[in-house]
Amino acid sequence: MTSLGKDVPIPLYYQIKARLLESIENGQLKPGDRVLSERELTTQFGVSRMTARQALTELESQGYLYRVQGKGTFVATPKIEQPLAGLTSFTEDMRRRGLEPGAKVLAAEEVAAGRKVARALGCGETAPVVRLERLRLAGGDPMALEISHVPASVVPGLLERGPVVHSLYRILETEFGIRLVRAIQSLEAVPANAYEAEMLHVREGTPLLLLERISRDSQERPIEFVRSLYRGDRYRFTTELIRREDAP
Ligand code: GLP
Repeated sequence: MTSLGKDVPIPLYYQIKARLLESIENGQLKPGDRVLSERELTTQFGVSRMTARQALTELESQGYLYRVQGKGTFVATPKIEQPLAGLTSFTEDMRRRGLEPGAKVLAAEEVAAGRKVARALGCGETAPVVRLERLRLAGGDPMALEISHVPASVVPGLLERGPVVHSLYRILETEFGIRLVRAIQSLEAVPANAYEAEMLHVREGTPLLLLERISRDSQERPIEFVRSLYRGDRYRFTTELIRREDAP
């Protein structure tokens, strides 16, 4: 790697980060390869240990690198590319990638909707809803923390049939005859709090991608309101944009 530009207004750690990222993106550094240690970066670029550490820490929290205690820092596998266009389930998304989907049920209960859920589902604030909190797994690794709300009236007996460790969408279809046909979804970045960090195996403050989805069936009934917190270090959402003929 070439030396750093000391007279440019770009912080040194940022320049090191960019060099490492370039080597990862052009394939010189492959998943599983060890990258230079803090000490090696210090010697190679003539920077302080703190500068080297900042470059590695940022790349780690962005999911490009991972550390193994006592062994070093390595190049991570590329992020999961998730198209935002289709109304698909976590189970379908993982299967399509050849990953084994799973869920650990953290809570499953019937509660009163409350203001936010009521507004999303178009029901009264005291209306009963089934609240499912699940950690979504791919090949056993935590990928997302998901809280789903479904009006209790549309899924009678859901909580009695055992933990929803597989697809909720599939259960809706096969057991309740409900097929979701469209959804409105928003996406925003949020930092992981202590609980989310522990569940998702990331450090506190790591960026997470919060998707909120309200899905409806063919009769336009709101069926689910879901908040999914995806690991920002493992996911990259993509979307196709089409320029309209009449664009100004
Ligand atoms: C994704 C979506 C959620 C949806 C879930 C259903 O994770 N972000 O909004 O509720 O899929 O997945 P499954 O059918 O596997 O439970």
